[in-house]
Amino acid sequence: MHNSNHNVAVFGAGYIGLVAGACFAELGHRVTIRDIQPARIQALQSGAVPIYEPGLGEMLTRNSKRLRFTLDADEAVRDAEIVYVCVDTPPTASGDADLSRIWAVINALKGASHLAVVTVKSTVPVGTGARIRAAMDTAGLEHVPYASNPEFTAEGRAVEDFMHPDRIVIGTEDDTAAELLADLHDGVKGPTLLMDVASAEMVKLTANALLATKISFTNEIATLCEATGADIAHVTKATGMDHRLGPHFMNAGLGYGGSCFPKDSRALRALASNSGYAFQLLTAVIEVNDLQPRRAVQRLKNELNGLKGRTIALLGMTFKPGTDDMREAPSTVIASRLQAEGAHVRCWDPMAPACNDGPWASAHRCATLPQTMTAADGAIIATEWPQLRQANWSRLATMMNTPVLFDGRNLLTPHVMKQHGYIYLSVGRPTTP
Ligand code: UGA
Repeated sequence: MHNSNHNVAVFGAGYIGLVAGACFAELGHRVTIRDIQPARIQALQSGAVPIYEPGLGEMLTRNSKRLRFTLDADEAVRDAEIVYVCVDTPPTASGDADLSRIWAVINALKGASHLAVVTVKSTVPVGTGARIRAAMDTAGLEHVPYASNPEFTAEGRAVEDFMHPDRIVIGTEDDTAAELLADLHDGVKGPTLLMDVASAEMVKLTANALLATKISFTNEIATLCEATGADIAHVTKATGMDHRLGPHFMNAGLGYGGSCFPKDSRALRALASNSGYAFQLLTAVIEVNDLQPRRAVQRLKNELNGLKGRTIALLGMTFKPGTDDMREAPSTVIASRLQAEGAHVRCWDPMAPACNDGPWASAHRCATLPQTMTAADGAIIATEWPQLRQANWSRLATMMNTPVLFDGRNLLTPHVMKQHGYIYLSVGRPTTP
């Protein structure tokens, strides 16, 4: 079976489905990507890429002969050997994942007994695979194997991560399906781990929750550094050099955002709660993360003796640099808190889409840093964009009413910023006297 090309149907043309589909095509497979949004499919058919992901556009163009986009589920399933479910699973009010889009795909597969495997890549609660298995059995798919193949790619580097993963996790009870999926990934540079479905589902939630834990732990140590005069930069550098701990995900700041860590840590906590078990450590991780943007606003408020009537420049809006994604961005909480305290918010971001909901409706978006900073009473860096690292800070200081800068991502160097004339605050580093 090795090195053969397969027909793959990918359901969901979001971050996960588009990247997986493009990469499978790059590996030589024929891929049909199906989505329910007409605008998205039309855009893809006309060669446009609806999301920002480095290298994705080129990859889609390069493999256009092996890629099709459709709204029609039957068309996608008809020629497929392998179905990949990559639809989103947003959180519900109870914190559980909303699986309705997954069920819609499973329903669309009814009677497609020619399939060699149905694989879920979407992040789901542990136990979902078993429920899907039962639903497939009643949909006439009892002879079609089921597999879980969670995704570990990070936004902004998803193509690179997909082609060079730390590991590929395949959970299935069926040996032929396992072999087929391993074959599908032939050419991807990374080890493959085979396991049962529930364990594969658990790996995904565990990895994200542990990374989130590392961030919140670092943020708590940063708070202690502030209280004791230690410097988080030294502490994390030296701590991370212990190979058992590793240097990654130890940047103190405004906390984690995005579509994954907040959702997955809450989902894992809900999974525990629903099993009658209070996951206390994870509850603390979530609480610390909720606190980080609020602490930033409080510290700025203290420095400015109140925020009422002040104009604050919010620098960076997306949840991290290199993406246009605003989901669960700490900047939204900051903008909202600033406004609740009576401040006027001006914001700047090189990539965020036009935002008109929540606090953004009354925030003034500026095109340039000088426009954002002119006559501002204070500023907060919420996203570590490279443009901010390279900005002309001494000139920007002269434009502000009061040069108070809260660097929520520890992007800049305290003594340099002091030389530029700032009252410079950051996370877990001594404040310049
Ligand atoms: C994350 C994981 O890194 C991926 O492995 C996973 O596949 C993905 O979620 C997912 O579940 O789909 P992503 O959300 O794209 O990827 O972003 P990250 O680069 O991991 O950053 C998440 C957040 O943590 C960002 O807001 C970032 O600013 C914050 N962060 C990260 C910190 O505050 N400190 C750090 O040291 C690292």
